[in-house]
Amino acid sequence: MKEFRGGTAVVTGAASGFGRVTSLALAERGMHVIAADIDLEGAERTAARAGELGGKGSARWVDVADAAAMEEFAAAVEEAHGVPDLVINNAGIAVMGPFLETGAEDWDEIIGVNLVGVVNGSRSFGRRMAERNRSLPRARRSGHIVNIASAASYQPVRSLSSYCATKAAVRMLSECMRADLARDGIKVSCICPGFSGTNIAKNARVASGVSAEKAAKVRKWSEAGLRMRHYPPEKVAARIIKAIERDEAVVSINLEGHLSHLVSRVSPSLGRLVARVPAPF
Ligand SMILES: NC(=O)c1ccc[n+]([C@@H]2O[C@H](COP(=O)([O-])OP(=O)(O)OC[C@H]3O[C@@H](n4cnc5c(N)ncnc54)[C@H](O)[C@@H]3O)[C@@H](O)[C@H]2O)c1
Repeated sequence: MKEFRGGTAVVTGAASGFGRVTSLALAERGMHVIAADIDLEGAERTAARAGELGGKGSARWVDVADAAAMEEFAAAVEEAHGVPDLVINNAGIAVMGPFLETGAEDWDEIIGVNLVGVVNGSRSFGRRMAERNRSLPRARRSGHIVNIASAASYQPVRSLSSYCATKAAVRMLSECMRADLARDGIKVSCICPGFSGTNIAKNARVASGVSAEKAAKVRKWSEAGLRMRHYPPEKVAARIIKAIERDEAVVSINLEGHLSHLVSRVSPSLGRLVARVPAPF
């Protein structure tokens, strides 16, 4: 995708963090952004700001983990605005805690949002992009799906087993989708950022087996860690836009993103050692 102006973008998790700032960056480039989130007020704030920045904004409540709700959402978008040019499957959560204290309900929640949410968005919107493209000559086919994974897709981290597992799955899913959807003229990119100052730690779930006292400590520690990192989400949004312009397959962002990727390729045993760095559990 080289031309954003006049196009339509769907962004999930658009109320906060990467989803919000990427929505605003797309609006600045003249796109109509459909901001989707379980936090409807937040999504409405993003949509309103998108309108002030020269684009257009609409908001929609949706739970990405709910396949039927996502299908309904995609049908409503198609009916009101046509098939979107760009879909960013960004909504995500973290679960923090040792593996043995991460319960079945924690796994259901994180797999539902981080992995099945990406599958749902990609299937419901991707199918519509493919159907539209099949009636067009090859040169006029379009559509780009961007999936937000993480540096955690490369690097194991103790006490983040469920998060790392879902993000590694999203990266592989994106690679498979890129190969599969190419025949329908749909591009697929996967983004792997390191730490950045969003609300992810504040919104994170502490594993159900962790005591309330420890959970408070963990939350404070992780929020402080993200604050100290000082990597603005706007830089992540700018890199996402470049990845779309260049049709890049997998993009690592910031020092942790690049280092994790490098270590996973050059010295996985070093990565395994780093994975054992103690956390406050
Ligand atoms: N911040 C980081 O350091 C970092 C690093 C790498 C990857 N990521 C990934 O970036 C993405 C965005 O996270 P963020 O850091 O901006 O966090 P954030 O908490 O600031 O934003 C996440 C948004 O997703 C929404 N959301 C959560 N569950 C949802 C659901 N079921 N349906 C719809 N919306 C839902 C939340 O309401 C929130 O607005 C996530 O996939 C996250 O895993 C974040």
